Amino acid sequence: MRNKILIVMLLFFALLMSPVGAGAQSKADAVDGEGHQWWQHAVFYEIYPRSFADSNNDGVGDLKGITSKLDYLKDLGVDAIWITPCFPSPQVDFGYDVSDYENIDPMYGTLADFDNLVSGAENRDIRVILDFVVNHSSDQHKWFMDSKSSRTSEKRDWYVWRDGKGPGKPPNNWVSTFGGPAWTFDPSTHQYDYHFFYAQQPDLNWRNPAVKDAMFNVSRWWYKRGVAGFRLDAVDTLFEDPGLHDNPIAGSGKNAYGDPIEENKYNTKLPEVHGVLRGLRKVADESGAVLIGETWTKDVAELKQYYGEHSNELQMPMDLMLTKLKFSAPVFRDHIAGIDGAGGWPVYVISNHDIVRSYDRYGDGQHNDQIAKVMAALYLTLRGTPIMYYGEEIGMKTTPPTRKEDVKDPIGQRGWPKEKGRDGERTPMQWDGSENAGFSKATPWLPVPPAYKTHNVAAEAQQPDSVLEFYKKVLKLRHTSRALLDGSYTPLHESDQNVFSYLRSYKGEVVLVALNMSASPQKVNFELGKNGFSSAISLLATPKSAAQGDTLTLEPYGVFIGQLSH
Ligand code: GLC
Repeated sequence: MRNKILIVMLLFFALLMSPVGAGAQSKADAVDGEGHQWWQHAVFYEIYPRSFADSNNDGVGDLKGITSKLDYLKDLGVDAIWITPCFPSPQVDFGYDVSDYENIDPMYGTLADFDNLVSGAENRDIRVILDFVVNHSSDQHKWFMDSKSSRTSEKRDWYVWRDGKGPGKPPNNWVSTFGGPAWTFDPSTHQYDYHFFYAQQPDLNWRNPAVKDAMFNVSRWWYKRGVAGFRLDAVDTLFEDPGLHDNPIAGSGKNAYGDPIEENKYNTKLPEVHGVLRGLRKVADESGAVLIGETWTKDVAELKQYYGEHSNELQMPMDLMLTKLKFSAPVFRDHIAGIDGAGGWPVYVISNHDIVRSYDRYGDGQHNDQIAKVMAALYLTLRGTPIMYYGEEIGMKTTPPTRKEDVKDPIGQRGWPKEKGRDGERTPMQWDGSENAGFSKATPWLPVPPAYKTHNVAAEAQQPDSVLEFYKKVLKLRHTSRALLDGSYTPLHESDQNVFSYLRSYKGEVVLVALNMSASPQKVNFELGKNGFSSAISLLATPKSAAQGDTLTLEPYGVFIGQLSH
């Protein structure tokens, strides 16, 4: 009896002593028998915390809200969530202006709420990724306050301070990507500080080793708390040309903010960026964590650089070029060929909190639901890791403000009406048909789009042909098919203007994906017999798409995913 009590007590203490964060979320299945990393088999899901779920009914989403939706995410088929910044912040850029890297903004909850979220996620085999704003802090961060206090302050060199060219003249012609000059004059120390984004987001000086150390330690701090990795914000802006050369001006036009259109030659994508990425990666490797990059690139060659020459930089640089493609079979086929052949593990994204939602970017206004399904079938069956954006799975549409006075995003206030800002893609998640779409009982910080009546989780869960149910089916298939997880990618019928089709093959298991990216019905003969297959057995197809013998019939915007058998 005494022994039993002792064992129970030991177990109890063992439980108490096992903190949430014993290193980055460690899972037995972090690497499979063939060396695939967990993140290669995972589906990621981006959450904009202000807009996901509001547990305390103040109109702004929060961490407890996210925790309350973990079952939904699990059921959907999500393996990792990336939460955009939830750290203390004056919220000038809605969290991308961080005033304390090692805490949670009270608006979103507490560190204890965060720990609960991580353990709740862990119980469901979902990993948590945070957003690391590496280029800049808030001007309210204690580092910047110290830096600004005097020319001789300890942290003066933690930010980029320079003399002007003369009275009222900034050090050079650089403009902020969010409008206005990239330099702000400080009248008390008579120098300018540099900010690629808003004036309230001063750039950190990554040439200073103390900044590097401090930031590396921030990442360690979160890994210890159970974070499985980071999405690194705005990595290409980390360094500036020390000579501060003027940027070339492209033409005589002006952008939405009335500034000259500059080529960011001397303040983005400097080679020094890669040194920092290697450093961050080393730290990530100490905890088996993954680094995802916000990598806006002009071409595949540029994207390749972010993996690192020896695969020692980002494991997951995002292919954001994908978000710029026109909905067309040849356009996607070309692009995917380039990415798939580049040698790195592709990371596909179709939506995020900075760009028009995929639903209306690809949609034609009449067949948006069908087109949303084609896009899901496309990027969720490719070789690589997909990153979804909240609401994409229910066909949420972009709903920009119609009046300047309603705009919340400062770039929209500044650039109106040419630039309406990013409010349209950040509206509250549409959970059900009740008031405020079930997001909150209070008035949400951004209005819920009228489309929530038809496009919401509860309603779509009841409709077998909804966008949501389609996403669930593709995600389920993706998780259960080795061909879709690890198989090679082979494009078919490469001159077809309407149907994008390919094979995913893994050790004899072959899956055919055929997507009609046109508004007219299509028939395609895949000559299965000639290629040694007897039939294509449907795994998932839209209602009027089917295989008969060698021929596949696809309805307009039809999808067919089938297993080929010998
Ligand atoms: C990234 C974020 C964007 C933010 C900017 C500045 O591009 O995605 O939302 O405004 O960085 O931090």
